[in-house]
Amino acid sequence: MIPETRPNDWDEIVARLLVHLDAGTTDSADGVHAVDVSDYLDADRWAREMDRIFRHSPVVVALTAHLPEPGSYRSIDLAGIPVLSVRQADGSVRAFINACRHRGAQIVAHGTGKARRFTCPYHAWSYDGSGALLGVAGRPTFGDIADNHQQLTELPCAERSGFVFAVLDPAVSFDVDEWLAGYGPILDALGLDDVELLDERELIGPNWKVAYDGYVDGYHLDILHKDTLGKDVMGNIMTCDAWGPHQRVAFARRNLHELRDIPREEWQPGGHMGLVHTVFPHVSVAGNGGTGMMVSQLIPGPTPDRSRTIQTHVVTRNATEEERAATAQRADFLEWVVNEEDYKTGLGIQAALASGANTEFLFGRNEPGNQRFHQWVDRLLAEPFATSLAPPRRNLAAAD
Ligand code: FES
Ligand SMILES: [Fe+2]
Repeated sequence: MIPETRPNDWDEIVARLLVHLDAGTTDSADGVHAVDVSDYLDADRWAREMDRIFRHSPVVVALTAHLPEPGSYRSIDLAGIPVLSVRQADGSVRAFINACRHRGAQIVAHGTGKARRFTCPYHAWSYDGSGALLGVAGRPTFGDIADNHQQLTELPCAERSGFVFAVLDPAVSFDVDEWLAGYGPILDALGLDDVELLDERELIGPNWKVAYDGYVDGYHLDILHKDTLGKDVMGNIMTCDAWGPHQRVAFARRNLHELRDIPREEWQPGGHMGLVHTVFPHVSVAGNGGTGMMVSQLIPGPTPDRSRTIQTHVVTRNATEEERAATAQRADFLEWVVNEEDYKTGLGIQAALASGANTEFLFGRNEPGNQRFHQWVDRLLAEPFATSLAPPRRNLAAAD
């Protein structure tokens, strides 16, 4: 069941956390859920995950903050597909496969920037921001160029709630509101459509699902992170809400009990909980819409046992110098925590997966976010999709 939730329900979340604090409980699933260890290891399964979930479902190719003005672009590689997103003159965003129509060289190096035209490094064919071929070096010597070579291959793309979504198969259509299943207004509470980029780092981690498991897990916070995050946040007290495959989890901060002495109409819930909003299948946002937030984008591969994570730190436009400095300092701290605590542990799990010690992993009743994540991965893998021009759209509002 999707809980009835309204977009500005943060008071209700801390109220639920207070009930859990008093009762020694946490949001729970119905029972313990087992996941086969082979789900994290098997190369065939990984290839199906890449194909069905990453190449045939909407993924996040950029944040609105990466593309602040016309001509702004972001170039990344996702599930083996190089993607170029560009802000257009009319303010919309278009996404293309970053492959030259001459002989396929990647036109734009990975990263963000601003450009009026993109020139291929191989033979200098050039394109404008709408993907149209502008110029061909040595044009009179080349010969005819058919119409279908005059435009970069475009991907279906939509911008919503501070994220640019695309499907990495040009033949697949999608409706972003169906994909978000009502989650858009929940994400809007973070204000990610009106923030600035402050800093970006890249980390190497284990299999994308081993890494993802950590983002929705409140069970480990005061154990693995006892000397870091656990000083501020309690473990094993969380709320977990879902809209289709997307989840919002909240963790109790150690000052939560103070709310007992404050009238509810004066609560400032963001100061008493840690919030993580995930965007299935590969993004999580840590922060509560305050001055600084971290968006983690998981990029699977290049092999089943590895992933990369791009940590993007954003600040509100009106953030003061002190707030920017604090966010930059937090960026160092979070890079260290994720590298040295989460991913060191995750890479250790990855190394031991094939040992035969476990044939399955257990997710407890107190790990509802993990259970839901794995069930959604299984569900999308089991769902038939057509590779024809019009595969069935998924209506995720009816999920759960
Ligand atoms: S491959 Fe791009 S100009 Fe030749
Ligand atoms: Fe963690």
